[in-house]
Parts: sequence; C-alpha cells; structure tokens
Amino acid sequence: MKRLTLLIIIPFALVAQKKALIFGVTGQDGAYLVEFLLGKGYEVHGVKRRSSYRNTQRLDHLYEEPYENERHFYLHYGDVTDGLGVITLVHKIQPDEIYNLAAQSHVRLSFDIPDYTNDVNAGGPLRILEAIRALSMTDKVRFYQASTSEMFGAAPPPQNEETKFYPRSPYAVGKLGGHWHTINYREAYGIFACSGILFNHESPRRGETFLSHKVTLAAARISKGLQKKLHIGNLNARRDWGYAKDYVELMWLMLQQDEPDDYVIASGESHTVREFCELAFSHVGIDIVWDGEGMDEKGYDRKTGRTIIEIDERYFRPTEVDSLRGDPSKAVKKLGWNPQKTTFEELVKLMVEHNLSEIS
Ligand code: NAP
Ligand code: GDD
Repeated sequence: MKRLTLLIIIPFALVAQKKALIFGVTGQDGAYLVEFLLGKGYEVHGVKRRSSYRNTQRLDHLYEEPYENERHFYLHYGDVTDGLGVITLVHKIQPDEIYNLAAQSHVRLSFDIPDYTNDVNAGGPLRILEAIRALSMTDKVRFYQASTSEMFGAAPPPQNEETKFYPRSPYAVGKLGGHWHTINYREAYGIFACSGILFNHESPRRGETFLSHKVTLAAARISKGLQKKLHIGNLNARRDWGYAKDYVELMWLMLQQDEPDDYVIASGESHTVREFCELAFSHVGIDIVWDGEGMDEKGYDRKTGRTIIEIDERYFRPTEVDSLRGDPSKAVKKLGWNPQKTTFEELVKLMVEHNLSEIS
C-alpha cells in the first residue's frame, strides 16, 4: 500500500510548476490570460508599464482573491521599447513560455503616432526574441506573438494562413514586422515561436475607445438617460467579432503543440458596424432606424423619433480595412477550436448587460 502511494505521489512531485511571462499583461487579453494560466497551475509573471496613474484595474481582483493566487502571480515594471530591460526580465524570470501581447493596439491612433507604434509593434517582439537568443534560451522558451487580422487589410475575405497580407495602417505594418520576426527567429534559431493571427475579440474588459465597448457602453448609458448621442465613424466596415475570454485559450494551446506554427483564430462570421449598433441598442429596448446618406446619415429611435447615432469624421481612418472574415479551419482541425463557442449575439448581449449592471 505504501509503495503504491509513493508511485502515485512521485510522478506528480516531479512535474515542476511552469512559469509564464506576459508582456502586455494589463490589457484586455492579458487579464484573461493570467486567469487562464493560473487555472492551469502556472506561476505567472506580468510586465506592466510605469504610469502616473494606476493601470492594473483589470488585474486587481487577482490580488483581492485569497492568497492562493497571490503566491503565483507577480508583476514587474518594464517596456518592450527598452531592450536592456527586456533581456534583464527574461534572464531574471527564466520563463518556460513568453506571451507578447504588448502593443500600441489602436488602429486609428497609429496614424497619429506611426513611429512609436512601429517601435512597439515590430521592435517589441524583435527585442524579446533577441533576448531569448542572446540568453541561449532557444531550447527552453516557447514564444507567442499576438498577430492580427489587420495584417490582411485589403485582401478580400475569407482570410486564412495562406492569404496574402496587405496591411492598411501603421499598426498593421508594424504587426506584420512582428509576425515575420517571429517566423524568422523560428527558422533561423529553432525557437518554438508561434504567431497567432487573431481576428477582433471583445469583452467587458475591452478598452472603451474600441468600437464594441464604445457602442455597448453608449447603449447602456443612453437607455439610462446618462448620455444623449453616440458619435461614430464608418458604419459599413465588416468585422469578424469573437469573445476575448475564448481566444486566450488558443494562445496557450498553440504553445502546447508538438511543432510551432501560425494559426488564424476567428469566428468565421462577419457583421457590419451598423449591425453591431442595431443589436446593442435592441438589448436596451431601442429600435434603431437609419435615414440620410454618407456623413449625414443618422440613427433614430423608432419609437420616439429621437436622434441616437450621428456620424463624425474624426473616427474615420485615412485607409480603412473594409471587410474581415476569418477562415479558422486549420485551428478547428489542429487545435480543436470551436468558432461559435460564443456567438456574435451572445457577445453583444453579455457586453451590454455588463455595462447596464455597472450603471445600476
Ligand atoms: P490592449 O487592451 O490595448 O492591451 C495592450 C497591452 O500592451 C497593455 O497591457 C498595454 O499597457 C501594453 N503595452 C502597450 N505599449 C507597451 C509597451 N511599450 N511596453 C509594454 N507594454 C505595452 O490590447 P488587447 O486587446 O488586450 O490585445 C492584446 C494583443 O493582441 C495586442 O498586441 C493587440 O495588438 C493584439 N490583437 C488584439 C486583437 C483584439 O481584437 N483585441 C486582435 C488581434 C490582435 P497599458 O495598459 O499600460 O496601456
Ligand atoms: N474605434 C472605433 N471608434 N471604430 C469605429 C468607430 C468609432 O467611433 N466608428 C466606426 N468604427 C469602425 C472602424 O473604422 C473599424 O472598421 C471598426 O469599427 C472596428 O474598429 P475598432 O474597434 O477600433 O477595431 P479595429 O478593427 O480597428 O482593430 C481591432 O481589431 C484588430 C484585429 O482585427 C484592434 O483590437 C486591433 O488591435 C486588432 O489587431
């Protein structure tokens, strides 16, 4: 009996706790990924930027939990534009897996700060990969790069791993650099490096200047009389929207495969910004009807005739990505991805409900 107990205990004792290092931990995906990895028993290290005001709101609940999580989750200061800082962190933490989620991730803003955006989005992954190489950790560390459907840009849908890239913003061009750095370090040095080409994914933790959260928040606030109108840009762009909480699991799964590879993660369905607005407002009992054309188009409340949505040219981009719809067949086959795990309708509903619950 004693021998049997030992046989059962020893193999468990031999499995060392894995360490993950996340750049961009304070963002939407970072917070979900920390929760996911803690749930898998990882020791998680996250890198936050120095800020004059708190930037850990999405992570605070992990510290409020009983000490169980606290012992496994650590934050460090750092910035992916600081090469020396990056190499010092990788050396100090000695992670098994590195997730690079750090980015200037706002496409519209990237036209205003192109140089900085490129430095973070292309230079960031390069600095991390070079740290892995310079520290002779190429056989020890697995690397995930947060690539994006924006790299497909003007290429017509459906887009998959074989689609030719045609980026349409400084954001996307920088991200394409990060994607190719990842592939180049994989081929040149044999690093287990994966590029996850993720289509838009949203959640209640999404930044409020992105379309989804801007609209669901406005719907909730307008229904409660806290906001008068929603000012918005291009209503006709199409996006393939999914739920961020579902998508982070795929980042991890890519790093658990036998071979490193690149994968498109998408819902396989696309909707217009206009449809997103209609659905969000329907959840607060407002039926939007449209009238007018171009910049003069407006969305009215069918019941009251009140103007709810107006077009504002500030939210247009110099070059738009008109239509994104992913073909996630490879991830379905190899990673067991379920593209409809959370449907578009469920996603919009859960975001509006979250916003309503925060108000009332
Ligand atoms: P997010 O909410 O904007 O988070 C970006 C993270 O990067 C934040 O933690 C931010 O820190 C950090 N960051 C920015 N500049 C940095 C720098 N110089 N050094 C270190 N950290 C820096 O973005 P997300 O939605 O979670 O997306 C995660 C990643 O996936 C991003 O790389 C994004 O481009 C990519 N992606 C996102 C989507 C999507 O639909 N969400 C789709 C495809 C790809 P602060 O909190 O201090 O700003
Ligand atoms: N943000 C924003 N604000 N977008 C608007 C607005 C507005 O007022 N009005 C219309 N849009 C349109 C944009 O022109 C775009 O076509 C669409 O809504 C979605 O915009 P965002 O939510 O800002 O996301 P994105 O598609 O540009 O980029 C996001 O997804 C990418 C993946 O495809 C970001 O998360 C990127 O970091 C990510 O790589």
